[in-house]
Amino acid sequence: MDEITQPMVLMDQVTKSFRIADQDVAILKGIDLNVRRGEFVAVMGPSGSGKTTLMNLIGCLDVPTDGRYVLAGRDVTKLTDDELSVIRNEHIGFVFQNFCLIPYATVYENVLLPSLYTMKSKNDAAGRAVDLLRMVGLEHRTRSKPALLSGGEQQRAGIARALINSPELLLADEPTGQLDSRTAEDIMKLFVRMNADHKTVIIITHDPNIAGYASRIVRIKDGLMET
Ligand SMILES: Nc1ncnc2c1ncn2[C@@H]1O[C@H](COP(=O)(O)OP(=O)(O)OP(=O)(O)O)[C@@H](O)[C@H]1O
Ligand SMILES: [Mg+2]
Repeated sequence: MDEITQPMVLMDQVTKSFRIADQDVAILKGIDLNVRRGEFVAVMGPSGSGKTTLMNLIGCLDVPTDGRYVLAGRDVTKLTDDELSVIRNEHIGFVFQNFCLIPYATVYENVLLPSLYTMKSKNDAAGRAVDLLRMVGLEHRTRSKPALLSGGEQQRAGIARALINSPELLLADEPTGQLDSRTAEDIMKLFVRMNADHKTVIIITHDPNIAGYASRIVRIKDGLMET
């Protein structure tokens, strides 16, 4: 299979255990997940079911205890921390529930931040940041500090930041969890646009209305995918 026809995310019997009070506790118990390039997938499931744990594995922020994970055709199951951070910077954009913007930096500087860790040209990144801020409707806010923005505007900045390195895969853990339903819908429309623009999108949500924006819903319960 060439790289383009490979799935974006391919997990085969992935498990994850944490050591809690001298016991290995299995949180993910054998996850099979196949997300094709260009898909928009929502992950749903009860609190504590392992959604964030799964997202951390998908995003190469953590590694499986067992099983195999192939991201964009590359087996990332056993990479070192340094190798994983290169993969993250090149392939993945992260959007957070609480936005995670740096308070003392401007909106523009926040959007630019992930580009400082890649080898790409500074001028290109600066131009891209301006374009992305326009795309998310924040061109009038570029010099503001995040605290002066509404929640929806902060999340727009978070999405622009996630896109600065042109990732193929966009991951978002409860991206609308802090937003009222009207603002949440606007943010979801932005994800739909990103998806139409060939990004693979995976979001975690407990809200069926939000999940309805995805083209496919997968459910996790007690550390297993429901089929
Ligand atoms: N680093 C860790 N060390 C120990 N236990 C952990 C760790 N990370 C997660 N857990 C445990 O794993 C379980 C699943 O957590 P996770 O955050 O993945 O759930 P979730 O589905 O995202 O829940 P929520 O909907 O509340 O965000 C929880 O019981 C949690 O306490
Ligand atoms: Mg969670």
